[in-house]
Amino acid sequence: MEEDLRGWLNYVDKIGQLRRIEGADWNLEIGCLTNLNAPNRKGPALLFDSIKDHEAGFRVLTNSNCSPERLAYTLNLPASLSDLEMVRALWQKFAALEGELGKFPPQTVKTGPVMENAMSGDGVDVLKFPTPKWHALDGGRFIGTGDAIITRDPDTGDINVGTYRMMLHDRKTIGLFFAPGQHGFFHTEKWHARKQPAPVCISYGHHPLYFGMGCVEMPPGSEYAFIGAIRQAPVKVIQEEITGLPVPADSEILVAGWIPVGKWKPEGPFGEWTGYYASQPKPARVVEVERVYYRNQPVLLGSPPNRPPSDASYFKETLRSALLCHELTKMGIPDIKAVQVSEIGARQLVTIAIKQRYAGHAKQAAVLLSQSRLAAVQGRYVIVVDDDIDPTNMQEVLWALCTRSDPEKDIDIIRRAPSSGLDPIIRRPADHFMNSRAIIDACKPFEWFNEFPQEIKISSELEKQVRAKFGKQLGL
Ligand SMILES: Cc1cc2nc3c(=O)[nH]c(=O)nc-3n(C[C@H](O)[C@H](O)[C@H](O)COP(=O)(O)O)c2cc1C
Repeated sequence: MEEDLRGWLNYVDKIGQLRRIEGADWNLEIGCLTNLNAPNRKGPALLFDSIKDHEAGFRVLTNSNCSPERLAYTLNLPASLSDLEMVRALWQKFAALEGELGKFPPQTVKTGPVMENAMSGDGVDVLKFPTPKWHALDGGRFIGTGDAIITRDPDTGDINVGTYRMMLHDRKTIGLFFAPGQHGFFHTEKWHARKQPAPVCISYGHHPLYFGMGCVEMPPGSEYAFIGAIRQAPVKVIQEEITGLPVPADSEILVAGWIPVGKWKPEGPFGEWTGYYASQPKPARVVEVERVYYRNQPVLLGSPPNRPPSDASYFKETLRSALLCHELTKMGIPDIKAVQVSEIGARQLVTIAIKQRYAGHAKQAAVLLSQSRLAAVQGRYVIVVDDDIDPTNMQEVLWALCTRSDPEKDIDIIRRAPSSGLDPIIRRPADHFMNSRAIIDACKPFEWFNEFPQEIKISSELEKQVRAKFGKQLGL
């Protein structure tokens, strides 16, 4: 399944899930349509062309992975899986692929489609690309939302691919917002400690899998290998001339430059994944662009955060859920049915379903989960439920919470855990961002599991019989 964004778009068009929209305004209209369409699992991907003030053919793609069919296709999974099946299938895939990572290291090629056009030196103009202003109170136009930012660790040589928001300043300067602790942040700090600018390349349009691997907390230096393993074909990279970084040969739009030492510019606010505007304008790092490469008729991949569910929430939380299942299994937690990072609230509400095997199993799973890098930053609530509950079904989770937990004995608080500058509950000004975790054990009490009241159930035989007899009449 070696395929670029153009191949992905052809497939999505073929299954009737691509809508072309002409003449939308970059100023709020694209953001508004994207955010209205995002929560609809039956809604199409949107491909904007002839965008106001921009050359026809310079396009923007949004809502790339908001339907189960598109998400399954991007992840190379069978179509029509339920949410629970998707998480479990992806978990098995990650477990299997980890052993295969060595088989799919990026493969260096001399050239690729992204080299069709280039701008250098004074000719650089990133304003050429139709960058939306996504939300009314954003501090500018954010070109980087569905991006893939490529950096190198100067000590280990590890290459990271991360998604961080990027705001346009002018033709040659773009703002870059890193939360402390991100891999791109560490790389930049290390270059700057050597008093050297950090080399950086950014892809703004690509197969959505680059974005998926960029926006979840993958092990350091593993993103290209995981993309290759998921597609069962190595990522083709070009060694970019100015920075020497390996960049995707089939990128749509690629920027190369430097993050200079000690240079900051006001950035934000930006409508964030919490559903609130975060960070008042404050100094953020910048990228000084030296070169831009782009394909003919380039496509910018946009993914504005928003009050959830948003453009990326289904995609990234499915990935995080599967990765958490895999990580906890590796830590030795037995009998996990699944983890579900909620689309509403993301890491702030995570549910894990287990088959309780021993006293304390539920607490152990929840505490480890709450401190995993995949769930730790700005986490809040972790709920553990029994394996008869589907953690992807919030109605079932709430039923377990209401009937199987007693607040006085089943809620533990972990204090002074890592939060982030986006946390709306932390009052500003603040120097450090920490918050607490509530671990909620909503499992039947282990000590008297077998005495717990019998739940009401319809047997599968009765259900089958009644559906066969009356199902059509009731649309069941
Ligand atoms: C649309 C979108 C925008 C994001 N913007 C930022 C950002 O501006 N800064 C940041 O630190 N993380 C941001 N993230 C979260 C990171 O992508 C995520 O934590 C990822 O794991 C970072 O990559 P890393 O683990 O390689 O550092 C964003 C995620 C998404 C989906």
